[in-house]
Amino acid sequence: MDVISVGIIGFGTVGTGTARILTERRRELESRLGFSVALKNIADLDTKRDRGVKLGRGVLIRDADVILDDPEIDIVVELIGGIHPAKEIILKAVKNGKHVVTANKALLAEKGREIFRAAAKHRVDIGFEAAVAGSIPIIKVVRESLAGNRIRNIYGIINGTANYILTKMTEEGVDFDAALREAQELGYAEADPTFDIEGIDSAHKLAILASLSFGIPFSFRKIYTEGITAITPLDIRFASEFGYKIKLVAIAKQADGELELRVHPTMIPANELISGVSGVFNAVYIEGDATGPALYYGKGAGEMPTGSAIVSDIIDIARNIRTGAVERFRRAGIPENPGIRIRKMQDIRTGYYLRFSAIDKPGVLSRISGILGSYNISIKSMIQKGRKREKAVPVVMMTHEAREKDMMQALRKIDRLAVVSGKTMYLRVEGGEE
Ligand code: HSE
Repeated sequence: MDVISVGIIGFGTVGTGTARILTERRRELESRLGFSVALKNIADLDTKRDRGVKLGRGVLIRDADVILDDPEIDIVVELIGGIHPAKEIILKAVKNGKHVVTANKALLAEKGREIFRAAAKHRVDIGFEAAVAGSIPIIKVVRESLAGNRIRNIYGIINGTANYILTKMTEEGVDFDAALREAQELGYAEADPTFDIEGIDSAHKLAILASLSFGIPFSFRKIYTEGITAITPLDIRFASEFGYKIKLVAIAKQADGELELRVHPTMIPANELISGVSGVFNAVYIEGDATGPALYYGKGAGEMPTGSAIVSDIIDIARNIRTGAVERFRRAGIPENPGIRIRKMQDIRTGYYLRFSAIDKPGVLSRISGILGSYNISIKSMIQKGRKREKAVPVVMMTHEAREKDMMQALRKIDRLAVVSGKTMYLRVEGGEE
């Protein structure tokens, strides 16, 4: 029986899941595929820690170059993350004629052009299913299942850590730091967790999804990105009173011939399916012109869910090698649709949630609403909690759709009022506009 040989570089959370599946299910995979996929080596600087996976003697090594220079290895799996030395490792693998599987969304979003160019030159494939939304086969969905569609909009909850934190804060009243610590212990968070909580990881994934869906280059630098660190339990409670949930959402949305690309905490009506996506689960809502709306749902991080996505790429590539069908896909990240413009953030239109800290005295509300009105911003509903004569109380409003630029200018003016203390908290709202 023929053997396709695999070398993994990086034996962390995802490396462990991948190695577990390849070794513990080797026979099952063999009978499913009709050929064998063998894990020849894993390279990691830490060769001592017990990951709970039984490996044969000599499989775990320290030196990644042993894998990269081994003529027997067909597929190199890069799982060290980050830009350097992951980029150099992948480029060397490609140059040596090896196919590559990676979960490295940061690298693809930022240096994808270089990586895919090199792959095309050396006629090898790059698999990156695990880079976006963990166990959900969303790359396959966009590239294959929806190939006959024009994709209109994408809304993704694509960072498990941020979703885990917001869910814990919403359902258990846990504070931000404790929830983040738990997510780190469970192996969901990035090496640098600011990537998770500041929306950067979601933006990396959105850059990949948007490139495949809209035929644009990887546009990570053009994505407006805002994290979840300013969300307070108070905002979560108010959101719930208005019938909304707060989620970190990655949005690629067509509007007036332009494409909006943004990641920010977003209020979504609590009765929409995507609002029910809790904990480490991810969901990607995609509206194709032929399919209509569809929601793809599953675990977005963790050892086995992401390991499963890596193994699916290994198997795809192994099948391609066996049938001589490598390079089935157009190179990712090349502009097919150079005409589409990325919309400036100041031009987007959404509803807004506003929480002012306003002195409780006559005439204050009319000053705030007067400024909003002068910027063409219309109030939809309002709550004021408590009564503290002459002291600051939270005043919360939901607005109808307004232009971002108008809203920012209005808030700057409102925050300068003597009767408003502190900076106004605002959140963008998607859905629920009648
Ligand atoms: N840190 C990422 C997350 C891992 O929390 O979703 C999966 O990409």
